[in-house]
Amino acid sequence: MTRFQDRVCVVTGGAMGIGEAAAGGLAAERGAVMILDLTFTQAAADRINSASGFAEGYACDVSDEAAVRDVFAQIKLHHGRVDVLVNNAGITGPQGPVETVSLADWRALMAVNLDGVFLCTREDIDRMITTGRGVIVNVCGLYGLVGSPDAAAYHASKEAVRLFTKATALQVTCHGVRVNSVHPGFIGTLVVEAFADASGQPDAALQALAARHPVGRLGRSEEVASVIAFLASDDAPFMTGAEVVMDGGYTAQ
Ligand SMILES: NC(=O)c1ccc[n+]([C@@H]2O[C@H](COP(=O)([O-])OP(=O)(O)OC[C@H]3O[C@@H](n4cnc5c(N)ncnc54)[C@H](O)[C@@H]3O)[C@@H](O)[C@H]2O)c1
Repeated sequence: MTRFQDRVCVVTGGAMGIGEAAAGGLAAERGAVMILDLTFTQAAADRINSASGFAEGYACDVSDEAAVRDVFAQIKLHHGRVDVLVNNAGITGPQGPVETVSLADWRALMAVNLDGVFLCTREDIDRMITTGRGVIVNVCGLYGLVGSPDAAAYHASKEAVRLFTKATALQVTCHGVRVNSVHPGFIGTLVVEAFADASGQPDAALQALAARHPVGRLGRSEEVASVIAFLASDDAPFMTGAEVVMDGGYTAQ
């Protein structure tokens, strides 16, 4: 398939995990992919380029307003526009009871998970509106839909992105721009492995996480990437403001 031929795609947090899979999926369908991440952006771009795709890496902290502005200006200078924006960069942030969370850690989490989505969305949306061409996919999560006892800040950030998605969609859909959110269950990326390692019994922790999903396993980054590609493509013209849950049945219980 070549659903992203002649489309300029930005993937934040695209150097590893779900973001790298999303970048690879868009590039495999002929998208010109711009990877924004803190580090390792060139290595991720090189992997795509050696697989016959087209990717460029840009070092950018999505919580830094000036850095985001600068990087989007560079992309627009070289490629003219952004057609697909995947707001994927995110961190887990402080774990544990609310009373143990410092304001600094709370704000650091919100700066990446929430401010980052806002700052990147703001960069090219005016042109998307003017030309009636553009799609935004926000990688939110199961934890933007349901709570758990030990990650209040993360839940708050992801729930905020869920409604930011709907509000933005309502603003821009009449101009031909679509905005949706994706809500994966636990995906077997490094961040989940690190969480399991921290428990001291990684195998048992991963099994326990998998067991929370009725499908009986963790999700895969490529599975999230294929949903992102679907939403970003012309196969989903009637989807906007939607929260697409892909959680192995977790929230069906
Ligand atoms: N892994 C899961 O189980 C899971 C489930 C649901 C939602 N999510 C969400 O999916 C997204 C990706 O998760 P992942 O598991 O692939 O994580 P990951 O840690 O493997 O990758 C995240 C990427 O984002 C980058 N990043 C972090 N802070 C950044 C910043 N300030 N600016 C630019 N880039 C930054 C990291 O460098 C990294 O490359 C996150 O938003 C996460 O909250 C993950």
